Amino acid sequence: MLYLIGIGLYDEKDISLRAIEILKSADEIYVEDYTNFYHGNLKNLSEITSRNITILKRNDIESGEILYKDALLKNIALLVPGDPMIATTHSSIILDAEKRRIKVKVIHSSSIYSAIAETGLMIYKFGRTTTIAFPYIDTIPSSPYKFFMENSERNLHTLMLLDIDVEDNKFLSINQGLEILLKLEKDAKGNIMQKATFVCCARLGSDDAIIKAINGADIEKILNFDFGNPPHCIIAAANLHFIEEEMITRFY
Ligand SMILES: C[S@@+](CC[C@H](N)C(=O)[O-])C[C@H]1O[C@@H](n2cnc3c(N)ncnc32)[C@H](O)[C@@H]1O
Repeated sequence: MLYLIGIGLYDEKDISLRAIEILKSADEIYVEDYTNFYHGNLKNLSEITSRNITILKRNDIESGEILYKDALLKNIALLVPGDPMIATTHSSIILDAEKRRIKVKVIHSSSIYSAIAETGLMIYKFGRTTTIAFPYIDTIPSSPYKFFMENSERNLHTLMLLDIDVEDNKFLSINQGLEILLKLEKDAKGNIMQKATFVCCARLGSDDAIIKAINGADIEKILNFDFGNPPHCIIAAANLHFIEEEMITRFY
């Protein structure tokens, strides 16, 4: 059996009892550390479960051999930051494993996709999510602005994830993300940012989480604000329901 186990939003306290029970009897435990910055202490997790935990790099996971080689006869667990299904690569793991007749079980966990509801923005009013990517030389991928525009035309909020490179310890900050959006809007000669409300989130789920709201017209005022360590994300909110408005007011 191959278990895909979510280890939650922030640190080792976010894992479920269900997951710990499975880990205690697993033959091998692996963790992937490239889809998010995980602030948990793997040593603690290893002590709680009395098992070794091996970190796998993206290539090890994408080639699959380490994960699949023993999973027909043994219980293999792959730990994934957040919820294991909120990362496109993990659907391929399920498909590849099942082609090899390996049974797969998913153990869900807290995720950025549910944590953003703490802002007060209603989860069913979100449109397509986008990722603001690292600029490549001088080129900035323009899809985040396009999806933001499409969502705002439909009066839907846009969750903007921010690119990370865990291996090289690099991440796009909220400030860089907002600057990229301003540049994309200038290039597109658009004017939707002024009318939107931006809700900026750093380290949701941690003890030092930051949620900061700002009107689009005032964005320049927070470009130098220090949001601290990753992970960060930005939400561009569409028109607000009065309850959303009241919730968001707490974060100005
Ligand atoms: C590819 S997603 C992985 C999502 C993860 N599997 C989950 O379910 O939460 C990673 C991105 O989500 C955002 N993110 C994840 N956790 C976050 C947190 N605690 N606070 C703010 N943003 C977060 C960041 O933009 C980060 O680059």
